Amino acid sequence: MSEQQQNTASTDAETAATAETDAEIEAAAADEQTSEKLVELAKRRGYFFQSSGAYGGVGGFYTFGPQGAALKGNVEDAWRDRFAVAEGNMEIDAPTIMPEPVFEASGHLDGFDDMLVECPECSESHRADHVVEDNTEYEDAESLPIPEVEEVIAEYELVCPSCGAGLAGQAVETFNLMFATNIGPGDSQPGYLRPETAQGIFVEFPRLKEYARNQLPFGVTQIGRAYRNEISPRRSIIRTREFTQAELEYFVDPEEDEPDLEAVADVEVTLYPASEQNADDGAEIETTIGEAVDKGIIGDEWVAYFLGVAKPWYDAVGVDMDRFRFRQHLSGERAHYAADCWDAESEIDGNWIEMAGFAYRSDYDLSKHAEYSEDRFTVFRQYDEPKTVERATVDPDMSYLGPEFGGDAQAVVSELESLAGRDRDAFESDSIEIELEGEHHEIPVEKTGFAVEEQTEAGEHIVPHVVEPSFGVDRLVYTVLHHAYAEDEVDGEERTYLALDPEVAPTFVGVFPLQNDDELEATADEIVANLRDVGLSVTYDDSGNIGRRYRRQDEVGTPFCVTVDYETLENEETTVTVRERDTTDQTRLPVSELPEIMADLRAGELEFDEL
Ligand code: GAP
Repeated sequence: MSEQQQNTASTDAETAATAETDAEIEAAAADEQTSEKLVELAKRRGYFFQSSGAYGGVGGFYTFGPQGAALKGNVEDAWRDRFAVAEGNMEIDAPTIMPEPVFEASGHLDGFDDMLVECPECSESHRADHVVEDNTEYEDAESLPIPEVEEVIAEYELVCPSCGAGLAGQAVETFNLMFATNIGPGDSQPGYLRPETAQGIFVEFPRLKEYARNQLPFGVTQIGRAYRNEISPRRSIIRTREFTQAELEYFVDPEEDEPDLEAVADVEVTLYPASEQNADDGAEIETTIGEAVDKGIIGDEWVAYFLGVAKPWYDAVGVDMDRFRFRQHLSGERAHYAADCWDAESEIDGNWIEMAGFAYRSDYDLSKHAEYSEDRFTVFRQYDEPKTVERATVDPDMSYLGPEFGGDAQAVVSELESLAGRDRDAFESDSIEIELEGEHHEIPVEKTGFAVEEQTEAGEHIVPHVVEPSFGVDRLVYTVLHHAYAEDEVDGEERTYLALDPEVAPTFVGVFPLQNDDELEATADEIVANLRDVGLSVTYDDSGNIGRRYRRQDEVGTPFCVTVDYETLENEETTVTVRERDTTDQTRLPVSELPEIMADLRAGELEFDEL
């Protein structure tokens, strides 16, 4: 769900999956435990933890530790490879603070709001729609008008999630989610921390189109921080106040450009269209992108194209495809700019969470920035053949307008030009009426120099439309970790491991000397250096028994471990034990071939069981 709905709400739904059977209920409960264990593991092993702990911590801010930062970086690199490099798009890096007029134009200043209800007893603030969704059968409370939310709170006698006091009768208010600041000393230039990276791309469109040589379609990507002053941040890194987005704004000519649908037509997808969500017996649909477009399930071909690109990419970075779907926004849920929108959702703890939104933003953003700024947010569309068209023009008599209107004469000329463009019939009478700052003026038509002329035009200026795949990196990282979390038994001992995809695993290989022995350690050091030379992320560990070292790397999600033992030193050909994380299978490999083999495993060009 897009998190930018105007007037009523801005954040996404975590649509509760309906756990209907006992098995589903049990699975949901087990999953809940997984989240608890995962958050504990994340802290212990350096994936993520609440920031500023020394000062008591503050809700909605998380620090990615060494493993987490590396995993997040790998996910971002994978996104960049697919959505910027492979698609031939340009990447930019814009500031995170932008001046107020940007957000006046974008609509965020007026309506980037959530619904807030304050507890009369403990004064804690809560998302009113979440209180409703968590405690009633309403699944999409953010699309309800405020008076209705107040009524539901009263009718169900809902209580404060923190202290249990009744919330009935409390006013539900709107709360703008943007963090405000002042640019420079004083308060003459207000600014805001961007609530989406997208605006940094839209405002630079006049320059970016030049880099694209004024040729549509073209895409611009950005990976960076976004800030939302969430009323109730929750579920660790799933809803935070500072997070990372990876966004692509793809600018198209709505009449001329078409996506390469054939490239993704066979991609299999699970879709949950709005029609199915609204139906009593509605269900998810298993189909392909091509079929979904043919049957009109996905209305916009560009959105379909990017869903088709995204699905295999999510698979490749380690999202469990049995817990993944695309869900279409209901009409009340769509953001102000979106003509259609589908979310990529993953199932976590029995809930569906939104990982990304794929919105057709039409010409909304560029038109708004054109209206509020002084720049040109159009591109020139060349006609196949020059066209001869009739144009109504004016050439006003300034010797009349000057004395009559003084300093406003130029404004009158602009009004006349605009009127000629939109209503040439108005010039058929003897005089025409124009409005200037609320006052009406009569002007004789003979003084306007009105004429209709034939002109030959090579093309026209159009405002491009925007298709926007917008990914939340933190939620993806959480999903990848959650879906990778596994427990089993090895040699009679319980084991926890993260079955992370080698492409994103923060550490690719652990190297251990079997014992504290100069010769073993020297060989292990050399192996570490050689593996790092081929660009692999390697950790060296010589503390504790070998079983404990394996467990440590399993919990971190390191796909392979290399152990240097006495056989390494004794054999004519130096070999080491290589162990695979998920199966715990082991094999011996020559040290001389290790860098090449490991690099191939990392690149997915070789599987461990082929060795
Ligand atoms: N430019 C469009 C846009 O920002 P959005 O649906 O509001 O759309 C895109 O946000 C993605 O950003 C979401 O799908 C989600 O993954 C992520 N996101 C939004 N709010 C978030 C929050 N408070 N904490 C973590 N991630 C968030």
